[in-house]
Amino acid sequence: MAFDQQFLDELRQRLPLQSIVSKKLKLIRSGRNWKACCPFHGEKTPSLYIYDDHYHCYGCQAHGDVISFYMETEGKNFNETIRELAALAGLEVPEQTLQQKQSQERNNVLYDVLTCAHRYYIELLRSNKANVVRNYLYQRGITDQTFAEFGLGWSGDGRGGLISHLKQNGYGLKEIGQAGLLRKINENEWGGELFFKRIMYPIMNRRGQIIAFGGRVMGDGQPKYLNSPETPLFVKRKMLFGFHRLSALNKSKDSDPLYHQVLVVEGYMDVIALHQAGFGGAVAPLGTALTQEQLTLLWRVTRQPLICFDGDDAGRRASLHAAEEALPLLTSNQTLGFVYLDNQEDPDSFIRKKGKEAFLEVLRNKLNLSDVLYELSLEAMVDNTPEQRAVLKSRLLSLSKTIKDSNLSQEYRKTLLDRFYQDFYSKTIQNKSKRQHSQTRHASRLVLSQHQVKYKRLCILLIILIYFPNIIQNVEEALCKLPLPKELAKIREIIIEMNGLCDNINDLIEKNGLTFLVQKIKEQADLPGLEQMKNVHDLHVIEKQWWHFYGWINIHELEEQVLHAQQAWLLHPDQENQQAYIARLNALEKLKCGEDDIFDEEF
Ligand code: UTP
Ligand code: MN
Repeated sequence: MAFDQQFLDELRQRLPLQSIVSKKLKLIRSGRNWKACCPFHGEKTPSLYIYDDHYHCYGCQAHGDVISFYMETEGKNFNETIRELAALAGLEVPEQTLQQKQSQERNNVLYDVLTCAHRYYIELLRSNKANVVRNYLYQRGITDQTFAEFGLGWSGDGRGGLISHLKQNGYGLKEIGQAGLLRKINENEWGGELFFKRIMYPIMNRRGQIIAFGGRVMGDGQPKYLNSPETPLFVKRKMLFGFHRLSALNKSKDSDPLYHQVLVVEGYMDVIALHQAGFGGAVAPLGTALTQEQLTLLWRVTRQPLICFDGDDAGRRASLHAAEEALPLLTSNQTLGFVYLDNQEDPDSFIRKKGKEAFLEVLRNKLNLSDVLYELSLEAMVDNTPEQRAVLKSRLLSLSKTIKDSNLSQEYRKTLLDRFYQDFYSKTIQNKSKRQHSQTRHASRLVLSQHQVKYKRLCILLIILIYFPNIIQNVEEALCKLPLPKELAKIREIIIEMNGLCDNINDLIEKNGLTFLVQKIKEQADLPGLEQMKNVHDLHVIEKQWWHFYGWINIHELEEQVLHAQQAWLLHPDQENQQAYIARLNALEKLKCGEDDIFDEEF
């Protein structure tokens, strides 16, 4: 039963969330709000925060209002929940109007028509007539199990079959047409089937009921996809393909939480391929740009959905659009993240070519909304002139103004302007632009996110040690303190294992099956002077470089290292300790002068 929005709002107002939660959970004060141990995942210390009108678990990202809390914890469906909550609130559940009743009944018929059509499509895909189709799907890496999970089907080769099947089951043309399965000629006048020669993807609502289909041609015909038209059940801008599966998202503690990150991708096939690879949080809009309604849906289940569109220009434009749609609605609890794929890949092709680990790495390199807004605005800059800087600055200001939450709007304004000043007016950049003639390199540097820059520097630190294992013992302690993502930590293990052995480090890398990873790290490090460095015989020069990059990651650690080395030298004033001290000190001094390109200078 559909409830009137006004009634639901009143219900929410009458039942403070805290009053319902306190019946289930032990509440602990947390400032103005409350917190409790989350009932949605096992935990011993509270990470479920209860605000006036919503809750959020910082452990498992569970999220919602009083209605969803009651539904989830009592295991009731929506109707039961509303009736029970209304009783608690002393509200009467409004009777349905005649019109509401009629449309409810009509909708029920449409659901049935679509379910019946769906069974027909599934049967066809299983039949001999669809051998070629199944082979096409297999060849794209989709397994039988995935067909079944997503309910994929085949529409058959020609027209007529679906209509006669549905008629046999007692449905008339009008109902079949209203369900969106026929070509519409006029109001209440229907032609043949809309879908033929197409692979059928059922589209479900939040309750898992079928409300529409997407149909893909086999091979290269046009249009590639045909979707059901809008019907009383199917309102495109409010639906997301795959959304109903999110409630069953496996949030087990054993797997990397990135596997249950909510991801917004562009295509049906991307959702399907990601699910098959274990990324159960993937959803897609239905061939249109992401809407505010869809964002609102996503924010009910997670604080920060990640936008993961195709790695082409259209994908980039679509992510900018998503960012702009999100801005007015942004709060501290509803934001967006972004990940980008290499040129021309979509998540489906990416996973197939490079595998899960590589995709996890993509997710680890998530950018925040503020980074993306800044970088995309920067990319629109034509040249570095006062005019263009003024354009950029006013764009940054107007973007932050779009955020309605005033507190957050001020923070965005500050963050975006800080980056603007840092990029165009800080000493580092001025020095750099004097030295650097290559415009493109300059530009591509600027658009690296903080996170990517840090990752790159970590790669540099490791790659230097692989090239110069002789300096390992001088930096080992600091190396161990570096916070490294898993795959880089593996390389560190090898490097440390290497220390003191006379084995060849490359053998060790190969023996551990890490050759490919090391190659990738080398690419990430992208150190132009690396090959020439091999000719440098004074290892202290190399060590100085190492400390320099180390300091970029954590200048305080470097400062401490300088102090330690100084003490060691004072205690034992030998040449070795002196050089160790000087290497660290030099690196620190250069850093403090804001120089970061010492490789280019010295090699
Ligand atoms: P894509 O062309 O990226 O589709 O369009 P895809 O899912 O990656 O499909 P494959 O890999 O070629 O099989 C992205 C989405 O845009 C919509 C569909 O929802 C599609 O999944 N679309 C695309 C249409 O609605 N009509 C079209 O003609 C093309
Ligand atoms: Mn694709």
